Amino acid sequence: MSVSHPSPATTLLSARSARSLPCAPLAVLGHDVQVPLASGEKVGYAALDYAASSPALQRVWDDVAAYAPYYGSVHRGAGYLSQLSTDLFEQSRRTVAEFLDLREGDQVVFTRATTDSLNLLASAVPAGTRVFAFETEHHAALLPWAHAGLEVDYLRAPRSRAEAVAVLDAALAGAPAGPKLLCVTGASNVTGELWPVAELTATAHRHGARVVLDAAQLAPHHRVSVRELDVDWIAFSGHKLYAPFGAGVLAGRTDWLDAADPYLAGGGATRTVAREVDGSVAVQWHTGPARHEAGSPNVIGAYAIASACRALTEAGFDALEARERQLVERLTAGLAEIPQVRVLSLFGATGDIQSAARVGVLSFVVQGWNSSHFSAALSAEYGIGVRDGLFCAHPLVRTLLGEESGVAPGPVSECGAPEPSLPGERSLNAIRVSFGAGTPDEHIERFLTAVRELVTDGAAWNYRNEGGRCVATVQIDRGRREG
Ligand SMILES: Cc1ncc(COP(=O)(O)O)c(C=O)c1O
Repeated sequence: MSVSHPSPATTLLSARSARSLPCAPLAVLGHDVQVPLASGEKVGYAALDYAASSPALQRVWDDVAAYAPYYGSVHRGAGYLSQLSTDLFEQSRRTVAEFLDLREGDQVVFTRATTDSLNLLASAVPAGTRVFAFETEHHAALLPWAHAGLEVDYLRAPRSRAEAVAVLDAALAGAPAGPKLLCVTGASNVTGELWPVAELTATAHRHGARVVLDAAQLAPHHRVSVRELDVDWIAFSGHKLYAPFGAGVLAGRTDWLDAADPYLAGGGATRTVAREVDGSVAVQWHTGPARHEAGSPNVIGAYAIASACRALTEAGFDALEARERQLVERLTAGLAEIPQVRVLSLFGATGDIQSAARVGVLSFVVQGWNSSHFSAALSAEYGIGVRDGLFCAHPLVRTLLGEESGVAPGPVSECGAPEPSLPGERSLNAIRVSFGAGTPDEHIERFLTAVRELVTDGAAWNYRNEGGRCVATVQIDRGRREG
């Protein structure tokens, strides 16, 4: 639908001139938020948990605020603001298609997030499809396939990029005839390491398998071209791409999606619905994105993603990646100076020249520390927000932890919940530090100082496990940070 008179949507989309901030962090919300330490002092919050959810770009927030007064229903209203919102929603789709460098004929489906996107695809895969997934995947990429009743080959954790390609090649060579799908991540949410997506895709295609790329951790950090990588589908989340308004994306080939039953049944996905003489209801479903977008679309979420896509493109991925590389190098060099710290790596042990290639995501354990205790101290004593746990990638983290500690990890708590063990107990989980386009150098420096001090001097407070959370209780009287 196009509006007949000048649309504020056009103004909203074109008002911003290209803004390039090659060597400075992009402006994000929350950069000036003060949080209380255990001591009662306040300190600027160092958000180092971008891999879970990144802060909103100021630009995204401003764009959403500028649009908010014009908010209206999408695909279901005759009024001006409904037309405008429909326009904006569809323009957002085109912006995302450009951002991902989609091929002619590919489509963008707006979803809730990566988990939703991959479950949608799992529901649309033709019956009899065999799915291949490395056991190292995030649960969102590991679990939807069997859940949808498909046969899954879980591939063993490879210890180099070359081994990943070889393992896939062998698995596909031995697979029975029939449709096949590989689901692979672009960057690990645990180690941050980049996966050889183009090589894996070429291998998969050589065996007649299709590929869906889980770009949840890749798209916020790197330019992604679906055309160049040649993947068949790609999925990512708005809330990890500086656009936390409840939307995500599944983009790529139309054929399987158009042939499948709609992901959700409801309004918007239907062309016609009619009562039949036998009392049943006959439905003609749309093809295209609408088929899988039943219900009222999340126009603000979609528009926020489009805004983030434009902001990152205008800032320039070359500059963003260069800056992030500097921070990664500073972080890894700083941690390497602390012998008690063990950084978790899948590809790092092989001497592979690219083994260090990672986005701004890194997990580690600290000798003699429980990771929940350590993370709690980073927060309570330094105002630093990281994540501890198994990061919804239990098989991968348990493999890496087993190797690091020389012991098989025990039972684990629910995804997202800290493992309920006491300070000083052996660590059965890890600490993850992650950052991105909004991270100032100071956050990385403060983090390294904090790790060094905690390892050298110990925590300045006692901690107690309260409902699965490590909480600071009493200050230890050592005056260790005086002067
Ligand atoms: C690699 C990867 N894939 C998928 C997901 C799931 O994303 P969401 O929780 O936004 O659905 C995550 C989330 O952490 C992730 O890191």
